[in-house]
Amino acid sequence: MTIGLLKESGGERRVALLPEAVALLKKMNVQILVEKDAGISAFSSDSEYEKAGATIAAKPEVISQSEMILKINPPTDSEINSMKQGQVLLGVLNPLLDKELVKKLALAGITSFSLDIIPRTSRAQSMDILSSMATVNGYKAVLTAASNLPKFFPMFMTAAGTITPAKLLILGAGVAGLQAVATSRKLGAVVEVFDVRAAVKEEVIGLGAKFVEVEGAIDDKSAGGYAVTQSEEFRNKQAAVIHEHAIKSDVIICTAQIPGRKAPVLLKKETVELMKPGAVIVDLAASTGGNCELTRNNETIIHNGITIIGNSFFAIDMPADASKMFGKNTVNFMKLLITSDGALNLNWEDDLVKGTCVTHQKEIVNERIKALLTL
Ligand code: NAI
Repeated sequence: MTIGLLKESGGERRVALLPEAVALLKKMNVQILVEKDAGISAFSSDSEYEKAGATIAAKPEVISQSEMILKINPPTDSEINSMKQGQVLLGVLNPLLDKELVKKLALAGITSFSLDIIPRTSRAQSMDILSSMATVNGYKAVLTAASNLPKFFPMFMTAAGTITPAKLLILGAGVAGLQAVATSRKLGAVVEVFDVRAAVKEEVIGLGAKFVEVEGAIDDKSAGGYAVTQSEEFRNKQAAVIHEHAIKSDVIICTAQIPGRKAPVLLKKETVELMKPGAVIVDLAASTGGNCELTRNNETIIHNGITIIGNSFFAIDMPADASKMFGKNTVNFMKLLITSDGALNLNWEDDLVKGTCVTHQKEIVNERIKALLTL
């Protein structure tokens, strides 16, 4: 089988496979075509891909000669139009929100897989691109906050006096939130964390932060480890506690999300206006509405001296390691789709293959997407 790697467009700097991931795939008896300059923004040259065993080609050739196409971001209309019926596409298609794309892929008869909907079971952990990108986001959010804060993060005892450590509040302790805790603790900040899932309390404490509890959260065990929408009574109680802690914080990192829904608003305008001038809010939930009422997606604003950074895609700013993690996750998933002699094998009995598949033979495969489109 031939696998084609496409170059990303727009401001995207990542690439779905680095040369090291190509070398891993080559061991699976497949041919790999790489679009010219596909890895250039992730600091990998065409010659490195060639050394790893790939052949460099122009986009039309990559699309027409590959049985499977890899790309991180959704294909453009012209890429979809160049693809053949039955061709396999693997990427991050955001199919729960982008219904138009799902329809186009189904109509074109493309067999599409979207790594952002892989069932989050233990077997899928090595293929979980959401966790990989959340790790980058949590890390970069803290570094971005540190570089925008007019204060130090760690405590210093200097001849010029004592510098007190920065106080951080982290809203949401999923993968990004826990990475933010670990990174800010390494930088010496004092960290407090909120989450509605009591299950994360021990991890938060283990990382050296304080877990601030609000009694009465709905922790739905059937939600697969995810948070669910909370009652109005709880939301009011939580808002009061967050307000009290937020106004004393130098930095707030927002990471709270509910899959498939708008992010919960946890920081009101009135709270932000009582924060210390110079404080920084980094809102990783910006793309789904933000945890802060004032957040603007992909923008940095200053409100009453508080810097509010709305960015959910810091991975773009760390293209080398983000591509490395993405590629390793992708190769692990591809092991489920390729036989030992390098042929395509779509095993619909495998819950990860079926759960990640968006469209096949002009039909929508994933049950959640099917239900959303019917609605
Ligand atoms: P996420 O991005 O969906 O949400 C981030 C955090 O925000 C979560 O911890 C959530 O509880 C919290 N949150 C939501 N609403 C909130 C509110 N109103 N107030 C405060 N906090 C709120 O989460 P992420 O990072 O995708 O992971 C969530 C869980 O998914 C993990 O802890 C784990 O159980 C599961 N998971 C499983 C994986 C696997 O087995 N392959 C991999 C990664 C995560």
